[in-house]
Amino acid sequence: MAQPVLFTPVRVRNLELENRIVIAPMCQYSAEDGCMTDWHLIHLGQLALSGAALLTIEATGVTPDGRITYADVGLYDDATERAMARVIEGIRKWSDMPISVQLAHAGRKASTDKPWFGGGQIAPDHPNGWQTVAPSAIPFNPKYVAPAALDKEGLKRIRDAFAASAVRAARIGHDAIQIHAAHGYLLHEFLSPLSNQRSDEYGGSLENRARFPLEVFEAVRQAFPSDRAVTVRVSATDWMDHGLNVEETVAFAKMLEEKGCDAIHVSSGGLHIEQKIALGPSYQVPLARAVKAAVKMPVVAVGLITEPAQAEAIVATGDADIIAIARAVLYDPRWPWHAAAELGAQVKPAPQYLRCQPSQFRTLFKS
Ligand SMILES: Cc1cc2nc3c(=O)[nH]c(=O)nc-3n(C[C@H](O)[C@H](O)[C@H](O)COP(=O)(O)O)c2cc1C
Repeated sequence: MAQPVLFTPVRVRNLELENRIVIAPMCQYSAEDGCMTDWHLIHLGQLALSGAALLTIEATGVTPDGRITYADVGLYDDATERAMARVIEGIRKWSDMPISVQLAHAGRKASTDKPWFGGGQIAPDHPNGWQTVAPSAIPFNPKYVAPAALDKEGLKRIRDAFAASAVRAARIGHDAIQIHAAHGYLLHEFLSPLSNQRSDEYGGSLENRARFPLEVFEAVRQAFPSDRAVTVRVSATDWMDHGLNVEETVAFAKMLEEKGCDAIHVSSGGLHIEQKIALGPSYQVPLARAVKAAVKMPVVAVGLITEPAQAEAIVATGDADIIAIARAVLYDPRWPWHAAAELGAQVKPAPQYLRCQPSQFRTLFKS
């Protein structure tokens, strides 16, 4: 049987991924004052044994007010850096899976509660809340306190914070950085004409709306070692009339590629409460395909990719170079093992788990 494409290597800058499965970033709402806890060691530890090619750490605030909730992870001071370093060291001791961190600022969608407490906005005068910021003073939800529109000094503060987090990420050994420009958070808010109604050079045309996200990309690229990859996650469409659309995203992807972006991860939505998403298996793959047709850098598809044959078809037909999984790998933390077994390939298990590989099962039970 021919080797399934899903289990062939792919290169992202100097990073040689041993297969085409990456673990998407997933917030855990389990940090304390921005610091990772033992939950992260358990959660990321199991994912680091999953056989995927890359582990992406959840949206990590570059400033305290850039966190989605008060329980989000941050990488903005020595304490948050130490806490993340401890988790990474713990994982690295037992797994050689490359690790990436998603650097994020939540913009007008920050200062909310944990999803299991309802996820609503927490007012700025509450101990767990703060005043949010955005390109324009337009709230995400009419029930929210309006964000403060960022002035030039605010933009510089956030750009510098992304760069400072990138320095910390390099110091604690991250193999790559993913910049979060999707799901209605700050950088996506700049890209979308629905949330960005500025009249200065950061609003209006796509070139202007892309200016701040590109400045952040350049600042991170400069701050992170040149041999390590910097990638970007985008929402290719707002699923709204007059919102950001795939044509604009393709143009943005080209701008990123020109600036040295190493891979683009194509998600969608999250910007507007009236979005109309046609959900279904592989529903975002056509967006990845559109971006892939326009760029040379590796393109990652994500969203309701749950079956090995489905994942194989996406990379084998060239719709995308890599697939990312989130919920499927929480449900089944050995998803890549099971996909390999189903497609007739192999993942590299930890030596402690060698004897449970399917072929070994067969040998054991024959004797
Ligand atoms: C628990 C959970 C947390 C998530 N947190 C993040 C996040 O931190 N950053 C992000 O870009 N996407 C986040 N997402 C979205 C996923 O990365 C992914 O794009 C989405 O779940 C669709 O992929 P799936 O169908 O494989 O789950 C999260 C999803 C889940 C289920």
